[in-house]
Amino acid sequence: MNTVATRGVARLVRGMPTSDGAGVKLTRVIGQPQLADLDPFLMLDEFGTDNPGDYIAGFPDHPHRGFETVTYMLDGRMRHRDNHGHEGVLVPGAVQWMTAGRGIVHSEMPEQQEGRMRGFQLWINLPAQQKMTAPRYQEFGPEKIPQVTAGTARVKVIAGQLEGVTGPIVQPATDPTYLDIELTPGSVFTHALPSGHAAFAYVYEGSVRIGEGDAAATVAGHELAVLSEGGMVRFEGRSGAADSRAAARVILVAGRPLREPVAKYGPFVMNTREELMQAFADFQSGRF
Ligand code: FE2
Repeated sequence: MNTVATRGVARLVRGMPTSDGAGVKLTRVIGQPQLADLDPFLMLDEFGTDNPGDYIAGFPDHPHRGFETVTYMLDGRMRHRDNHGHEGVLVPGAVQWMTAGRGIVHSEMPEQQEGRMRGFQLWINLPAQQKMTAPRYQEFGPEKIPQVTAGTARVKVIAGQLEGVTGPIVQPATDPTYLDIELTPGSVFTHALPSGHAAFAYVYEGSVRIGEGDAAATVAGHELAVLSEGGMVRFEGRSGAADSRAAARVILVAGRPLREPVAKYGPFVMNTREELMQAFADFQSGRF
């Protein structure tokens, strides 16, 4: 009999406070010394604050080449604009999947003067043959993100499949899964991830027991669990953020590793140093 092991917690990582753009305060969870990357994931930032001073400066014009960015808004509104004529406003619950491809210059600016701004930005690498593809946006309002009730868990399917429901984002190269899971205390959610995919879970409200048996760990808010190799992963809600009866919230993200060399500098992610230098030259001469 050939059984696939259940996934447990291989290691726990706490994000690092930093700032980016014109001084936006955020927590870098992937892309920092403790977890430089998790192929195909290059970066995960969590932003979350009630203080406009932490976000009001936004992310003025800046370039990207060679990968994809996924922005998932929980609270607040953010306007994006780019040099190819795209513009839109991300609202709470919206997802923007941007394929930077051969090059884009864009801004991401708060569309509010006060109130809470909260969400995630994830960077997913592109394989060598897609790094110079045409830039593209896929933008989905909250009404376009299917919500599935699985037992007592409520799950938003941003990418991947759950109980016959498919999330709106499709990327065959990395075949990503991106679920936002809400668990009341004691409620259990299990999900089979493709074996061979790199996977992590990030708890952003309350605490959640992840895995089974010896490989399980109780993961507190703002901690990332790198999941071990295997198939099924089990989540059990422990407590919420506000009080012990509130729901915990966790994102589950997985993708197929590219296993290619990574040459990365700031907003450019290529395979070789020569391609990185070409990216700089192209950006500086206005070829994005
Ligand atoms: Fe950006």
